[in-house]
Amino acid sequence: MTVENGQFVIQNQSVLALCEEFGTPLYVYDGDKIEEKANALKDAFKGVKMKIKYACKANTNISILKLMHTLGVDIDVVSPQEMAVALKAGFNPSQITYTSSGVSFDEIEVSINNDVLANIDNLPTLIKFGEKYGNSVPVLIRIRPNVEGGGNLKISTGHKESKFGIAIEYKEQILEIAKKYNLNIVGIHQHTGSDIKDGKTFVEVARVIFDFAMSFPDLKYIDFGGGFKVAYKDGDSVTDMVDLGEKISASFQDFCKKYGRELELWFEPGKFLVSESGFLFGNVNVVKENPTKTLLGLNTGLNHLIRPMMYDAFHDVVNVSKPNAAVNEVYDVVGYICETDDIAKNRELAKTDEGDIICIKNAGAYGFTMASNYNGRFKPAEILIYKNKVHLIRKRETLVDILANQILVEL
Ligand code: LLP
Repeated sequence: MTVENGQFVIQNQSVLALCEEFGTPLYVYDGDKIEEKANALKDAFKGVKMKIKYACKANTNISILKLMHTLGVDIDVVSPQEMAVALKAGFNPSQITYTSSGVSFDEIEVSINNDVLANIDNLPTLIKFGEKYGNSVPVLIRIRPNVEGGGNLKISTGHKESKFGIAIEYKEQILEIAKKYNLNIVGIHQHTGSDIKDGKTFVEVARVIFDFAMSFPDLKYIDFGGGFKVAYKDGDSVTDMVDLGEKISASFQDFCKKYGRELELWFEPGKFLVSESGFLFGNVNVVKENPTKTLLGLNTGLNHLIRPMMYDAFHDVVNVSKPNAAVNEVYDVVGYICETDDIAKNRELAKTDEGDIICIKNAGAYGFTMASNYNGRFKPAEILIYKNKVHLIRKRETLVDILANQILVEL
């Protein structure tokens, strides 16, 4: 989003005009930004056979999935429902992986029945897989590397206390199960966490996983998960992809040489691809003076973007109705939900009036997908702008959606 000719625009589209046309609260995604990020990742790993498996839990709108498909990005799903949407969006089953976390075995069967590679995260399920499929179906296994990384504990998944993956200490047990059922283990997967800014974490994980992988002779893929940190504000520290690309590619090449075959390197970014592409626009319902501060009450809140409340995540806010005004007033931007849903505290904004539109940045990942109907509110509409064309990709909900599955009984 930039200021052109005195107004905020995304790809030449005036954001105020979009808010006027589609109403607020409104999610807007910049498809060209998604393309730019996908290309940056491909570029950083151009020296090796690398595949991007978009972690679609970040944003599952079917048109976003279609865009990923068009960009040559594959996909990682975490439920049969995401799998169904991915298939509907045009992905071939061979482009999908199903990363399960303690799911029932019938969900693994759904994956196999759809010819989708299943990623298994616990030993009992691996045994069931062996009993049912033997070596007739390839399988991926998710390892917990016991490496700590991530923006905060809630989004750290690779450490010793985490529920995710098969603990790396259980290598012998995995090998026994593999031998007993003649398993065709084609890939080793790990995901350390989200918002990992320090490239050293990935380098450390690579060392651990490459060492582990040497014991598995049938591998085709090493999947490093996602977790790259993006910028939440100007000057924010982010994962340095160029540096990481060089370091991981070099150690991957060394590993492949030692392993005796060239494998594919997979990454599963969510935030990296879509976080910065997304903007949530809300209308200022009320400018509320308190003795110590001034609050801007928006027509959105934790029901549409829960990240600030759930993870204390920082989201930049901008008054897009006042593009030319000095940014020198301090406000708390709060939601309209009957909970403490502070979106942004003590932020400098242009002097704001009732009816102004506030843009919340970095809303493309884990925004809409974590939205709810709490307080009976409708979920917002979603817009995708791609190559200067505006697409409505989700209609705003109505009362029909709220009542869709509810049953009013005779009492
Ligand atoms: N792969 C696996 C197996 C994952 O569990 C995740 C995220 C990813 C890839 C993608 O991670 P990313 O590149 O987006 O960091 N709702 C939280 C983030 C939860 C991430 C869950 N797993 C947030 O809004 O910060």
